[in-house]
Amino acid sequence: MRGLRDKTAVITGGASGIGRATAYRLAEEGVDVVVTDVDEEGGEATAERIEEAESVGGTAEFRPLDVSDYDRFEECLIAVAEDHDGLDILFNNAGIGEERSFRETTREHRDRLIDVNLKGVWNGCHAALPIFEEDDGGVIVNTSSMAGWKPAPITSYALTKAAVLHFTRSVAGELAQYDVRINAVCPGLIETAMTDEWYSEEEQEMMRQQTALGRWADPDEVASCVAFLASEDASYVTGRALKVDAGYI
Ligand code: NAI
Repeated sequence: MRGLRDKTAVITGGASGIGRATAYRLAEEGVDVVVTDVDEEGGEATAERIEEAESVGGTAEFRPLDVSDYDRFEECLIAVAEDHDGLDILFNNAGIGEERSFRETTREHRDRLIDVNLKGVWNGCHAALPIFEEDDGGVIVNTSSMAGWKPAPITSYALTKAAVLHFTRSVAGELAQYDVRINAVCPGLIETAMTDEWYSEEEQEMMRQQTALGRWADPDEVASCVAFLASEDASYVTGRALKVDAGYI
């Protein structure tokens, strides 16, 4: 893809699933990848695998980060920009799930969902903006979900993902004046630790049947869409949400 080689990207939630697959994909495209996560072991493992792979063009390193902490997020982005002579791409992907019904959801879990899934995205976008402004632009990709589009029984999670979607589309106009493009990916049924814990085998099979392609996806299939949105091949795309859902919606 055009315009990725030698760029610097920060990926949140890079220890696992979609974030890890995107770290691999961007590194293959020649990006210097900064993997961040609360899971230090998983994050180190992502970065080590990239560093050890001979065919990969980019470099990788791990930095611990809880996206719900604005100050730490800001410090992390400033440090990356100083060490890498700028920042080009931010993938706001970290997220947590929810297995409970609305009635069973506690206020503590509601707050954590909002802190990580929604404020985490807001924090990253807000803290990156002055850096992008100084660097003459940048690209942001946020992870929403099909649950951001379609009513879903996972109500508090769906609330955060719908908010991410609306935020992404709403803020795009303001960010354009700083030469920042911002888009969202809305994954459908992706085989990761989150969905494995979340859905029973019967539920997974029922959902599979609701996709036009009749299958769940590998995280790589979201990673390639993120790489596209981050690349210059998507230079005229901003304020959009790309559904990666095999026609589920
Ligand atoms: P995952 O559980 O494999 O990865 C999520 C990562 O986020 C983990 O490494 C976790 O440690 C990290 N994380 C959690 N809280 C964090 C925090 N406060 N700060 C930094 N990192 C934190 O799950 P998956 O599936 O790869 O999820 C990635 C994103 O994709 C999430 O935002 C999720 O909501 C979204 N998504 C996933 C779908 C799927 O089918 N797997 C469908 C739609 C959206």
